[in-house]
Amino acid sequence: MLALGIWVLPALCVCAVGKKETGNSNEMKMWWREDPLQQSLDLVYTEIEHLKNQQLIMKQRQDDMKKVMTYCTQTRAYKESDANLTSLQEGSSPVLLPFAQDDEDEDSDSDGHLLPDPCNHYTALDQSWRATNFSTKNVACDRRVNWKGWYRMFYRGKTIQMPEICIKKEMCGTHAPLWLVGGHPRLRDGIVTRKICGHWNNNCCAFKSHPIQVKACRGNYYVYKFVQPMACHLAYCADVNTLVCGRCKKDEICTSRDKINWFCKKSPSRVKSRVHFFASYPGRLSGKVNRIQYRKVYVNVGQAFNRLTGVFTAPVTGVYQFFFSTQTANNGAKTDLWLVVNGYWVAVSHTQVSRSNSVGNLSTYMTSLRKGALVYITHNCGNSWANAASNTITFGGSLLLKRK
Ligand SMILES: *[C@@H]1O[C@H](CO)[C@@H](O)[C@H](O)[C@H]1NC(C)=O
Ligand SMILES: *[C@@H]1O[C@H](CO)[C@@H](O)[C@H](O)[C@H]1NC(C)=O
Ligand SMILES: *[C@@H]1O[C@H](CO)[C@@H](O)[C@H](O)[C@H]1NC(C)=O
Repeated sequence: MLALGIWVLPALCVCAVGKKETGNSNEMKMWWREDPLQQSLDLVYTEIEHLKNQQLIMKQRQDDMKKVMTYCTQTRAYKESDANLTSLQEGSSPVLLPFAQDDEDEDSDSDGHLLPDPCNHYTALDQSWRATNFSTKNVACDRRVNWKGWYRMFYRGKTIQMPEICIKKEMCGTHAPLWLVGGHPRLRDGIVTRKICGHWNNNCCAFKSHPIQVKACRGNYYVYKFVQPMACHLAYCADVNTLVCGRCKKDEICTSRDKINWFCKKSPSRVKSRVHFFASYPGRLSGKVNRIQYRKVYVNVGQAFNRLTGVFTAPVTGVYQFFFSTQTANNGAKTDLWLVVNGYWVAVSHTQVSRSNSVGNLSTYMTSLRKGALVYITHNCGNSWANAASNTITFGGSLLLKRK
C-alpha cells in the first residue's frame, strides 16, 4: 500500500504539469511577450503549490490506509491471542460514512425545479363568465390575454377546476370552450403537461390548442400555466360541477367517474411502499442470545425496524429480502446465527473455524410476508466478534415488492 502511494504521486505530477501547459498555451504566449522570465517563474510557483496540495491529499490517503491496515493487524492479533481488541477506538474506521436518517419524503416534487412552488405563487383568476354554465353574446378570446406564470381558477371566490370533458360550444363565455384532456394530475405527479381541446361543431377537439402545464396542490386545488390558445375565440373553462371539490376535507380527494358529478372521497391511506433497514451490533456476542439487539441503525426507511428490540415488523404484505452476517473468533467452536420469521428458524449464518483463524459468514433469505410478520436474529451458539466500527454482526433487509 505504501509503495503504491509513492508510485502514484509522480504519475499525478506528470499529469498535472502536462495539463497545465496544453490548457493555457495561448495565455502563456501572451505573457511571455511581456515578461517571459517572470511569467515562467510564476508558473513554476503555481505548479509547486499545486504539487504541495497533491502531496497533502496523498498523505491523507496514506494515513487512511494505515488506519485500515492497523485495524486488520489488530484483528489478526485478536485471532491469535483472543484478548486485545479493546484498544481499537470506536468509530475510527475511515471507511465509515455518516448516514443521514432517510425519512419518507413523499412530499417532494418530481419536477426537481428550484423555482418557487406554483401552488403558492399563482395569480387568482376569478371570472364568472368562464363557467361551464355561462353563455353570452359577448365572446371572450384568451389569445388576447398576456398570460404570465401560474393561475388558480375561482368562481365567485370559490376554488374551481377546468372541465375534463367536452363542453357545449358557446359556453364559458366564448365560442369554442377549452377543456383539459387526460384529466388532472395527482399530488405526487408534480407538474405535468396536458393537451387542451376546443369544442366546435360536434367535434370535441376541433381546436387542438397549445398544451399547458398543470399541478395538483395540497388543499384540493390546481394551478395551471395558461398560454395563449391557437385562435379566437377560444377560452379556458371553469367547470361549475367541480365547485364541490373546494369543500373536500384535508384527508379527502375530489373524484368523479363520469367527469360530470364530482364528490369528496376519503383518500386511500398512504401505504408505505419503501422499506429498507440496515443495523449492526457493535460488540461481541457469546453463547445464546435470544434476540440480537442491533443497536447501531444506519438505515431505517419506513421505520419498520425497532432498534430497542431488534425486531423487524413487516409494515405491508409483500416480498422481502433479508441479510445477516457474523464473524467468529473462536478456536474450533461453531457459531450459528439464525434468522427467525414468525417464530420459525428459517436460515442460518454458520461459521466454524479450526485453530487460530477467524471467518465471516453472510446469509441472505427472500420470502413473502404478511403485514405484521416479525423477523429477528438469534445468536444460538458460539462467539461473534464485532466492535463499534467493524460492522461484522449485521442485519438488514428491504421490501422488494408490495402485494395486496
Ligand atoms: C493490549 O494492548 C496494549 C497496548 O496496545 C498492551 O499494553 C497490553 O499489554 C495488551 N493486553 C493484552 C492482554 O495483551
Ligand atoms: C352556474 O352555476 C353556479 C353554481 O352552481 C350557480 O350559482 C349559477 O347561478 C349558475 N349560473 C347560471 C347562469 O346558471
Ligand atoms: C457459511 O455458511 C454456509 C451455510 O451454513 C456454510 O456452508 C459455510 O461453510 C460457511 N462458511 C464458513 C467460512 O464458515
